[in-house]
Amino acid sequence: MADKAKKLVKKASQQMNPVEKFQCLTDDRTSSDGEEITFKYAWATHLTDEEFDWVFSLFKQNMFTMYQMSQWGWDADSKKNELRATTARYIIALNSKGEKIGYTHYRFVLDHGIPALYCYEIQVIEDYQKKGVGSMLMRTLESLAEKTFMEKVLATVFAYNEKSLAFFHKNDYTSDVTCPDEDQGLDYLILSKGVQI
Ligand SMILES: CC(C)(COP(=O)(O)OP(=O)(O)OC[C@H]1O[C@@H](n2cnc3c(N)ncnc32)[C@H](O)[C@@H]1OP(=O)(O)O)[C@@H](O)C(=O)NCCC(=O)NCCS
Repeated sequence: MADKAKKLVKKASQQMNPVEKFQCLTDDRTSSDGEEITFKYAWATHLTDEEFDWVFSLFKQNMFTMYQMSQWGWDADSKKNELRATTARYIIALNSKGEKIGYTHYRFVLDHGIPALYCYEIQVIEDYQKKGVGSMLMRTLESLAEKTFMEKVLATVFAYNEKSLAFFHKNDYTSDVTCPDEDQGLDYLILSKGVQI
């Protein structure tokens, strides 16, 4: 069983462009403003310097204050290493002018023995928040998880990131079995959504 799970994760991780290969795009990719959103895909190791700088700067723009408040603190070098990891995969959302407006960094992982797609990061630029772009990215990850036989999609969210919690709850994510208990005194939650195979 563990071997099978490991093989599924390995196989999915080896795909250069699994979203296109397994046709994971869901139909509705128009923002609530009526703008058509397109996606671009890359392994972290294939991002250009310009793309990587943009990924990091949007992360910093959206998350700096929340990380500073957190038990983890703000550590730019460690975050850059995480964003650049060989297992990190990206979907970058572009507006109708081809400008980058958001992204998700995801990985295929073995989580407590279960094959899972982990959404490490989801970030949308301020002007495009609340227009459905984040939900489009999550729907694509969910379809990808299903087509690669992952059992669930996971995400870690700061307990005080209310907008993000509302976003995940709206997209039917609930507390994962591995989510820390309140009495553990941790400032983050682990959310998940099961994949229907
Ligand atoms: C969280 C985030 C990724 C959601 O993406 P999005 O494209 O804005 O979300 P969608 O438009 O698909 O979904 C909208 C829902 O998300 C929540 N939400 C998103 N932005 C919000 C905001 N500024 N204020 C309040 N709720 C917000 C609400 O539940 C909203 O539902 P509603 O419109 O019915 O109120 C995006 O807002 C973002 O990048 N936020 C800053 C960074 C961040 O917190 N990332 C997540 C780290 S775990």
